[in-house]
Amino acid sequence: MTGSPGAPADTGANTGLKLDVDGAVATVTLHRPERRNAMTPSMWRGLATIGDSLPPQVRAVVVRGDGPSFSAGIDLRLFSADGVPGEDLADPLSPGFADWLERLQAGFLWLHRPDIVSVAAVRGHALGAGFQLALACDLRVLADDALLCMKEPALGLVPDLAGTKPLVDIVGLPRALELCLTTRMVGAAEARELRLAEMVVPSADLDTAVASLVEALLTPDAATARATKKLLAGAPERTLEQQAAAERTAQAALQRERRAGGSA
Ligand code: ACO
Repeated sequence: MTGSPGAPADTGANTGLKLDVDGAVATVTLHRPERRNAMTPSMWRGLATIGDSLPPQVRAVVVRGDGPSFSAGIDLRLFSADGVPGEDLADPLSPGFADWLERLQAGFLWLHRPDIVSVAAVRGHALGAGFQLALACDLRVLADDALLCMKEPALGLVPDLAGTKPLVDIVGLPRALELCLTTRMVGAAEARELRLAEMVVPSADLDTAVASLVEALLTPDAATARATKKLLAGAPERTLEQQAAAERTAQAALQRERRAGGSA
């Protein structure tokens, strides 16, 4: 999959994903525009496979959707009698359900890894699982036509693709509860106010804005970027004193690695 721009990701299935790797930047594209990038379990497993086999030189991952929508969420045909050929949803009451869902969640969780910084480029709708995928990224850049919605509760589901913690971390419990239970659409301007978007740009400028941001994010060397992300990511769980101690430890470890001629 490395160095083959636009090629389908080597995920062992026709997952509706494309992976482009260009030096330190990987771009994952949801590629079912005719279905507004509606997602299936194969697609989520495909995302997990991309995370598992990401080339080591990759330091930034951009997640985007082909066509007018980022993603319309789960492929709703999975809930219909006809279903989607080759795709199944596990029965939540079956013994294998937790393991099945854990593998799907892996497709989202790797985007938080400290060795990469992930950026969602969101144009149009990011609904349900699509919103959760945007939340799986460290940063979100929204086109001005973006619409976010945690639609799951309207379908009698809890959001279960690892999106609830980032949502609560970003907007706080009261607003997260309001967004999930009302299942209302959040436009780009409100998303910016709620800190669900780092940047809102005209739709035509989305790719350029994301490329500039990624270039800037790659300014520090790899070891410094990784140590900094790890330090910041641990901050919410620590007291001020614990975080100060973590800074001391991280600085010593980083400089030790640098002097030893590590990956800095
Ligand atoms: N699952 C399956 N097919 C879908 C989905 C979906 N989630 N979303 C869109 N499509 C299909 C449509 O059926 C349509 O197919 P067709 O051309 O064969 O009729 C095609 O994609 C284009 O969709 P339109 O509705 O025509 O596109 P439009 O731009 O007008 O609207 C929108 C886009 C708002 C995303 C609309 O399609 C929609 O509301 N989709 C359903 C969203 C949803 O409820 N998702 C579930 C979220 S909950 C979760 O993810 C767990």
